[in-house]
Amino acid sequence: KILIIDFGSQVTQLIARRVRESGVYSEIVPFNKAAEVLADFNPAGIILSGGPNSVNGIEAPQAPEEIFTMGVPILGICYGEQLMCQQLGGKVSLSEEKEFGRAFIDIKADCALFEGVWAKGESHQVWMSHGDKVVELPEGFIVTATSGNAPYAAIADEARKFYAVQFHPEVVHTPDGARIIANFVHKVVGLKGDWTMASFKETAIDTIRKQVGSGRVICGLSGGVDSSVVAVLLHEAIGDQLTCVFVDHGLMRLNEAEEVVTLFRDHYNINLIHKDVADLFLGKLEGVNDPEKKRKIIGGLFIDVFDAEAKKIGGADFLAQGTLYPDVIESVSFTGGPSVTIKSHHNVGGLPARMKMDLVEPLRELFKDEVRELGRELGLPEAFIRRHPFPGPGLAIRIPGDITPEKCDILRKADDIYLQEIKLAGLYDTIWQAFAVLLPVRTVGVMGDARTYDYVCALRAVTSTDGMTADYFHFDHEFLSRVSTRIINEVRGINRVVYDITSKPPGTIEWE
Ligand code: XMP
Repeated sequence: KILIIDFGSQVTQLIARRVRESGVYSEIVPFNKAAEVLADFNPAGIILSGGPNSVNGIEAPQAPEEIFTMGVPILGICYGEQLMCQQLGGKVSLSEEKEFGRAFIDIKADCALFEGVWAKGESHQVWMSHGDKVVELPEGFIVTATSGNAPYAAIADEARKFYAVQFHPEVVHTPDGARIIANFVHKVVGLKGDWTMASFKETAIDTIRKQVGSGRVICGLSGGVDSSVVAVLLHEAIGDQLTCVFVDHGLMRLNEAEEVVTLFRDHYNINLIHKDVADLFLGKLEGVNDPEKKRKIIGGLFIDVFDAEAKKIGGADFLAQGTLYPDVIESVSFTGGPSVTIKSHHNVGGLPARMKMDLVEPLRELFKDEVRELGRELGLPEAFIRRHPFPGPGLAIRIPGDITPEKCDILRKADDIYLQEIKLAGLYDTIWQAFAVLLPVRTVGVMGDARTYDYVCALRAVTSTDGMTADYFHFDHEFLSRVSTRIINEVRGINRVVYDITSKPPGTIEWE
């Protein structure tokens, strides 16, 4: 296994992810804990991450000296390169020009790290992000690649199996980066690569058991991928010590609540409290038009209901949450500046700190696609795993203006028809998210020989990789006609259908 020593880079988890992708287990440890874990962990290889500091700064984070004498291969990345040089007797200085973004490196020597990927004499694109640079190599090292601004873009001491790069092989902007990391793991360290999501599951179950002991765990379940995976994983780990609470706010899609209850209670046999509080939510939302007010009301009520249910079962020692790695990075965003709140997000998993329970967050290291993979490993049905994201406040933010039970029913039917057609056309998995919106506008139409005066339904579908930016989906017109005809014929209350062709930005994916 590989030990990754973290010096505070924003992308350290990506290193772990690349190592996982190469089929090898790794763990990340903060630099100040590294010395402690070394002996126990017994790593086959070590990777030193990047970091925001300068190696020449006061109190610059250091790597434990003993890693350089253990006979273990080491890969230093960015700060890791500089640190390795400095701790082994080389020199690092502040660069006149900083180098950020795409750069090209020239390969000067073949080495095990580049084997089968890059060869001497070639030039390749990499991603750089550094202010300092190495100016003098420690003994035993040679330069294996240079760039305009980094004469030591890659260096190697093949005898000791020490390698270091100034660029970031872990990010996708270094197109061959994943193969370089795989080379370190397979060719330099010599690990086989037989670790899989199944092994992750086993390790996660062990970790949960150790953390929880005989304690009781409570978990909010929404039917979304993340909370579903957390619930099933915890259930495998600790069985009946887990209780899930499904706060059913009545703003779910057609049949969704029943599906959640059937799957988790009947199929998985999980202790599930299904709290039907539709009346409470719809009551408090009556006459509320402002999107932010809706979000705040729903978020607040959710916590109240969850709290009350937790008390009823006599409380719990732990709260399980489906926090993913991207949530972790976003919450420690290093821009630090005050950013404008576009929307107050309500997440079923994200309960506030005032609930004084320790957190169990078994997905903290994973990215969304890895969570899906883990879900498959746990036997969750594909329909749950591939389901489009659904916002915590549910249909409330897809009904601009005031919300009534009648409008919810109309929207549910239209949305269901739209999604049926998308699935029939084989487009569901190509689209990031698709849903119907019920506008608070009524327009005149004619059906049969009669005048109608009914609501407008807007259809939304977007492609995206992370929900941060999105493009509207380009349906063919035949498809849109089919959906429009079906909705108007089958859903009483709607007589006009429009398609939203706004991208994000400037629009957002949801309408509120
Ligand atoms: P926007 O509308 O901000 O949405 O472009 C980006 C993604 O986030 C989802 N979304 C939410 N998810 N709680 C959630 O769990 C929320 O309050 C929330 N608001 C938006 C949205 O569906 C899209 O996938």
